[in-house]
Amino acid sequence: MKAFTVAVIAGDGIGPEVIEAAIPILDRVAAKHSFAIRWERLPYSAAHYLKTKETLPDAAFRRLQNDVDAIFLGALGDPRVPGNEHARDILLGLRFKLDLYVNFRPVELLHPDLTPLRNPGSIDFVIFRENTEGQYLGRGRSSGDEHVAEEVNTGKGVERIIRAAFEWAKAHGKTRVTMSDKSNAIPTHRIWQDKFRAIAREYAELTAEHRYVDALALELVREPQRFQVIVTNNLYGDILSDLGAGLVGGLGTAASANLHPGRRHALFEPVHGSAPAIAGKGVANPVAAVLTGGLMFEHLGYPAASADLKQAVRTVLASRTRTPDLGGEARTTAVARALADLV
Ligand code: NAD
Ligand code: IPM
Ligand code: MN
Repeated sequence: MKAFTVAVIAGDGIGPEVIEAAIPILDRVAAKHSFAIRWERLPYSAAHYLKTKETLPDAAFRRLQNDVDAIFLGALGDPRVPGNEHARDILLGLRFKLDLYVNFRPVELLHPDLTPLRNPGSIDFVIFRENTEGQYLGRGRSSGDEHVAEEVNTGKGVERIIRAAFEWAKAHGKTRVTMSDKSNAIPTHRIWQDKFRAIAREYAELTAEHRYVDALALELVREPQRFQVIVTNNLYGDILSDLGAGLVGGLGTAASANLHPGRRHALFEPVHGSAPAIAGKGVANPVAAVLTGGLMFEHLGYPAASADLKQAVRTVLASRTRTPDLGGEARTTAVARALADLV
């Protein structure tokens, strides 16, 4: 049987709860599709950082770079580390150093009553969030009362994320790609306009449209059904992916993949964070972690295993076995058991 090695960084808060709930479900689906996962649990987290001063040591990074088939991450963030240094090194560090320039974040309504919208129709779009540039590089300077944050937009970086969005749209039978920037206020965003226009010409069969990010936020609330593929920078992608999650049930169900198309390196994490207020209470929603595992299985070459997971999630959500974030009373373990029974 084919076996893959997956490094697990469960992290902080609800991270370990949702990851450990998801793993047995993922094992069952894998077995059904005749493959197996060797889970390799790594300790890197706020607790580990506070104890050892170590975020992600070089040797561990090299192992993640060379010896594993994927990385499965829970969440990083802890009130005891207010500057979030460990998350910067581990999560952002892996995105940057493995050059995972695509942060792929699907937004799909899996049950009609999960949306706060009145007439939702079918909500099904994906966000291609640039993942290696923008303000996230943390460049800039602070002196006295002045704090300057620089935003990096390189021709190469902008071009490759836009191209990835068009390529994915074409491969998945989509008809429209929407690019979002703030070029009316930020002169350097011109690079997004120029690259988008040039690349769109290569995909004449697709409709290429642009929205300023403020207007897009409004339109996503009013008429999310019209969007298929949204491509944007790192910061706007971060914000719009939480907004997107809010349209279809919230952070408890939102999955994401950090990828470099054509390469093996990849990191999979729910969109949500460590949710300190509910950590340790046994009520975190494991659905986001399970669907994130599905994205990982697609990357490993098993789209049918991912489809099985999504179908099980639809069925469980419809059965009203839901955690409190979705208005239910089920605990993490009850939702996980219901999912495991279905797969
Ligand atoms: P958060 O996603 O942790 O929580 C936002 C809200 O959503 C909270 O009400 C929380 O209870 C709820 N929520 C999130 N996931 C849930 C789940 N699976 N089930 C039920 N409810 C859920 O965002 P935050 O409060 O802004 O951040 C908390 C910490 O997490 C911060 O330190 C932040 O930096 C970090 N964070 C990490 C990641 C990551 O590692 N990928 C992502 C986002 C935030
Ligand atoms: C996410 C998170 C991270 C981000 C934080 C924890 C650095 O919000 O994955 O969406 O901003 O990318
Ligand atoms: Mn975020």
